[in-house]
Amino acid sequence: MKNEMHVSFSAQNSNVIFARTIALGFLVNLKISVNVLNEIKTVISEAVTNAIVHGYKNDATKLVEMDMYIDSEELTIVVKDYGVGIEDVEVAKQPMYSTKESEDRAGLGFTIMEVFTDELVVESKLNEYTIVTMKKRYHEE
Ligand SMILES: Nc1ncnc2c1ncn2[C@@H]1O[C@H](COP(=O)(O)OP(=O)(O)OP(=O)(O)O)[C@@H](O)[C@H]1O
Ligand SMILES: [Mg+2]
Repeated sequence: MKNEMHVSFSAQNSNVIFARTIALGFLVNLKISVNVLNEIKTVISEAVTNAIVHGYKNDATKLVEMDMYIDSEELTIVVKDYGVGIEDVEVAKQPMYSTKESEDRAGLGFTIMEVFTDELVVESKLNEYTIVTMKKRYHEE
């Protein structure tokens, strides 16, 4: 059993909910526990919010891309933006590190993604792109 989907949407905050909703729609035929679905929703929210807020600085003329791949054991989520990029990914991934565009940023997004997935890979080039790839194993109930 393999399945995949690809979508792109404007870089505006209302599309965080859109991205979560289509991700759950994509997984609807699988019997994945509510806990795991909540973790998937959470990591998608963090990655998509980062692309919108940091990558594109809320410029809604830009597009965030999200791809999902699934096989019988593992879900892969890829979130891409072609925005400002990250100068040093290892530094950015540290807990509490934030460039704090606003006061409500705790610097925990990457930490949450790391905790709720089995693998997190961040690839970025300054002023070119940021690609966040997350893998999560799941078991059908
Ligand atoms: N897509 C991106 N493009 C450019 N910079 C990014 C991107 N994603 C993350 N960053 C940088 O990495 C830092 C850490 O990201 P992280 O999600 O851990 O924290 P945050 O977004 O600052 O705060 P929080 O997620 O807790 O609201 C950000 O402050 C930002 O500087
Ligand atoms: Mg964040």
